[in-house]
Amino acid sequence: MKKVLKVAALVVCVCMLVCAFVGCAGDDKKDVIVMGTNAEFPPFEYVTENGIVGQFSGIDVAIAKEIADSMGKELVIENMEFESLIMALATGKVDFVAAGMTVKPDRLESVDFSDTYYLAKQVMIVKEGSDIKSAADLEGKKIGVVLGYTGDTTVTETLGYEPERFKKGADAVMDLVNDKLDVVVIDSAPAKAFVDKNPGLAIVEDAEAFENEEYAIAIPKGDTELADKINTVLKELKESGKIDEFGATYSE
Ligand code: ARG
Repeated sequence: MKKVLKVAALVVCVCMLVCAFVGCAGDDKKDVIVMGTNAEFPPFEYVTENGIVGQFSGIDVAIAKEIADSMGKELVIENMEFESLIMALATGKVDFVAAGMTVKPDRLESVDFSDTYYLAKQVMIVKEGSDIKSAADLEGKKIGVVLGYTGDTTVTETLGYEPERFKKGADAVMDLVNDKLDVVVIDSAPAKAFVDKNPGLAIVEDAEAFENEEYAIAIPKGDTELADKINTVLKELKESGKIDEFGATYSE
């Protein structure tokens, strides 16, 4: 009988512990807001020793921190493959996506976007002295892009070339450095970050071949309340010149 009681007491204890734990996690959830990103895109998001949030830093992280602060919530970052971000948002795994993400019609089918906060363009990273001077010179070249980035769709669909696809910009740049590629097509700001880090590389622009792109924060479809909150913060950050400041701070 004693033994039965002991077992019963133990079972009750374990149940209480489990409930306390689950309860806790549930309560915490109220105070956090989860940003989805792919931290392979300096200066917008990258992994570093002492980041703004844990090991994450960059312009988007700084903006997201302002958004979280304005709501009195703790910012939590979910780092994942770029290709998974839209699905993670659409299924509620993350609350918003800040990832230097370009507003595009196909993405607008599954998510909404905030107001835009940055103007970008695709550029070509080449080795210094390359004979690539414009997008027309890409003909017959070994081109690297990152899977699912706008650089990928631009090279494939708009320009009609068959590039090699990488999971990270840094991997494509490594292959360029090692002469396995002739050129990498990627967004202007990360291109500059990669060129600054790797001597012997240069950026070639072609304003006519590449369209303007605008970055915005992706939010769940129809969540106008969150959109309003985010747009209010973005407006303040733009007007106060803080977004430019973030740009300067995280581009170094
Ligand atoms: N602007 C490009 C796009 O929307 C690339 C964004 C990549 N962002 C990142 N965090 N890896 O496709």
